[in-house]
Amino acid sequence: MGKSVPTHFQCDDDVAVLEIDHPPVNALSHEVRTTLAAGLDRAAQDPAVKAVVISGAGGSFPAGADINEIASGASFTPPILLDVLAQIEAFAKPIVAAIEGVALGGGFELALTCHARLAAPQARVGLPEVKLGLIPGAGGTQRFTRLAGPQAALQAITTGEALPAERALALGLIDALAADTRAAAIAHARRLASEGMPVLASQREDKIAQVDPTLFESWRTANAHRYRGQLAPWRIVDAIEAACTRTPRAAFELERQYYLECRDSPQREALMHVFHAERAARKIPGIGADVTPLPIRRAAIVGAGTMGAGIAMCFASAGLPVILLDVSDAALARGVAHIRELYAQAVARGRVTREQAEAALERIGTSVDYGSLGDVDIAIEAVFEDPVLKREVFERLDRSTPSHAILASNTSTLDIDRLAAATRRPQQVVGTHFFSPAHVMKLMENVRGERSSPQALATVMALARQLGKIAVLAGNCDGFIGNRMLQYYGAQAERLLEEGATPEQVDAVIERFGFAMGPLAMRDLAGNDVGWAIRRNRTLPPDERWSPILERMVAEGRLGRKSGHGFYRYEGGKRRHSPETLALIESVSRELGIERRVVGDEEILARLLHPLVNEGAKILAEGIALRSGDIDVVYIHGYGFPAYKGGPMYWAEREGLDAVIATLERLAPTHGRRWRPAERLIEAARAGSWSECGAAAALTSN
Ligand code: CAA
Ligand code: NAI
Repeated sequence: MGKSVPTHFQCDDDVAVLEIDHPPVNALSHEVRTTLAAGLDRAAQDPAVKAVVISGAGGSFPAGADINEIASGASFTPPILLDVLAQIEAFAKPIVAAIEGVALGGGFELALTCHARLAAPQARVGLPEVKLGLIPGAGGTQRFTRLAGPQAALQAITTGEALPAERALALGLIDALAADTRAAAIAHARRLASEGMPVLASQREDKIAQVDPTLFESWRTANAHRYRGQLAPWRIVDAIEAACTRTPRAAFELERQYYLECRDSPQREALMHVFHAERAARKIPGIGADVTPLPIRRAAIVGAGTMGAGIAMCFASAGLPVILLDVSDAALARGVAHIRELYAQAVARGRVTREQAEAALERIGTSVDYGSLGDVDIAIEAVFEDPVLKREVFERLDRSTPSHAILASNTSTLDIDRLAAATRRPQQVVGTHFFSPAHVMKLMENVRGERSSPQALATVMALARQLGKIAVLAGNCDGFIGNRMLQYYGAQAERLLEEGATPEQVDAVIERFGFAMGPLAMRDLAGNDVGWAIRRNRTLPPDERWSPILERMVAEGRLGRKSGHGFYRYEGGKRRHSPETLALIESVSRELGIERRVVGDEEILARLLHPLVNEGAKILAEGIALRSGDIDVVYIHGYGFPAYKGGPMYWAEREGLDAVIATLERLAPTHGRRWRPAERLIEAARAGSWSECGAAAALTSN
């Protein structure tokens, strides 16, 4: 079978169109670079060609360098992207980029190097390298800054967010929008050929001529916490600063140097693991392309509390009408007021426009009557975590929603099969576990009940994408993947307090490690009463015990942020030391006869992270998670584990699984049987990685 050439050379009269055709995303692989360079050569040599247009087949410009080549080193095989871009810079005829879909990473760097850029109104452009632990390495930071100025560059490149075409136009990154992008690009190229070439981005000076010299230091100070521990965001700032302060040659060279530094860093490897893990998580063995998800056009959310309100926002923001149901008008009014406040905050932070927020609010209806659910395709239950109440709600949903509708629960820990048994459609019952705050957190932990049908599962996996979430499928057990692991992490945090650590110390260690929030600050956020209620339903093995600290906190009304006082005092939203809580902890230590000691930071980290890994191994062995990468995705997007450390299972692999086993064995005699290294962990250590051992290998090779 003949191999197709990934760059087509076509001529539209005197304009050569080089179309990159390399599914799925036209990544700039070695073959693409080679054929693009050859196409440019041919256009340069052909006297009949007066100008060139570069476009992408399938409605998309390249979505970047080929990620697999970056990992393998093949991106360094000539011609490298920089060679092709140098060829464009030196080209004697105008070259115009026609961006019909996305132009990302190296793809956008290619576009930025061209003499002009035209984009479709729905196109999105950006430099997402930071999400892979990289900085743009082919002049992206330089050309972006020269076209749009350092302020816009700092914002866009350190976050890696893709910009809508209209915004890119306003910033000067794109020259014009055109619905028929390719035809417009051809006409534009022809015009440039007759009227003269515009100044290349690399030579533009106007946007960097008068830069406030304090800009970069202010940015560094303002973002010190957000990007702590990371490499790429800081190197991006350095590169943008260099664009404004150094000669072009020196600045381009620095960018390349920073790129190589990031490329060789463990953070880049970890983030690429996450990229692949997120995509692998979408693939469910046994659910192929032949299973069509049910289209979701309208949803109901039952319970307008913290979670229900946030989940309703997810649907409304994604353009889907949603009806919020609760027991009273007062509860609904509270829920809607909460939603309004969250949208107002989003508008104030520039995350959405006022018009978008208003349109979303209009998509949210309310009702106290189950009779109003006659036309929904899915109902998501988010009432109190009470098994009897939830069963009752499922019975009512079964009677009042159309027979095709999916019934889902947002339960944190309860048995999905028992909820399914309350209905006449157990095959359409699943878990859809969102994370708080639901309108922000990216994870949707979907739960497979014993009788959940492939279509029901395919539907909630597809729904996650529709809502802009990242989905992981979990098996049905107490706490599923995330909360099952979390309980031991949370329990250890309190045991460390009993032994002599302070809430500040425990949280600082975990936050320094890179978590968004330490375990005790997280408890205060979720509500200590909520943590306590969940714990009361659980039993522990005989050689373990819960610390009484949490129960005492609840008894004294220290519920966390919502009561202004928990492990910390809250003043104006800021956490402050609580002498009362420290006194409570010390009195618990006294009552238990524990002599408080100085607990080292290293011990804190070991005692919090190892139970996560050991329980993760058990979850894998039981098939609750399909792959170790799924567990990583859950922890990163649901619990704030630092993505640049790859998730707990990846972290353990990098630490060395043998070393993890040794630590568990050292701690097991003091802390109980649960600390004995799990079978799957021992197997993985023998095999050298999670994916090489047992069922995980069987699943991932499917
Ligand atoms: N290289 C190689 N493969 C890629 C890729 C890339 N840059 N981008 C996506 N893919 C693959 C995915 O792994 C996936 O493969 P499987 O089907 O085997 O799982 C497939 O293409 C489809 O991708 P998605 O499932 O993500 O498709 P989507 O429609 O949801 O999203 C997208 C498309 C917006 C382009 C998204 O894939 C994306 O954001 N890709 C990454 C873009 C990126 O980070 N580019 C920068 C690369 S680094 C760089 O460019 C550095 C440099 O300059 C030197
Ligand atoms: P919440 O207490 O804020 O809200 C519960 C809502 O359900 C209240 O508005 C209540 O009036 C309503 N309700 C009670 N009975 C009802 C009924 N019969 N019909 C309709 N509505 C009814 O609770 P929250 O925190 O939103 O939790 C809801 C669910 O989400 C629980 O299962 C919880 O375990 C789960 N969850 C909670 C998370 C959190 O961080 N709070 C995170 C993830 C899941």
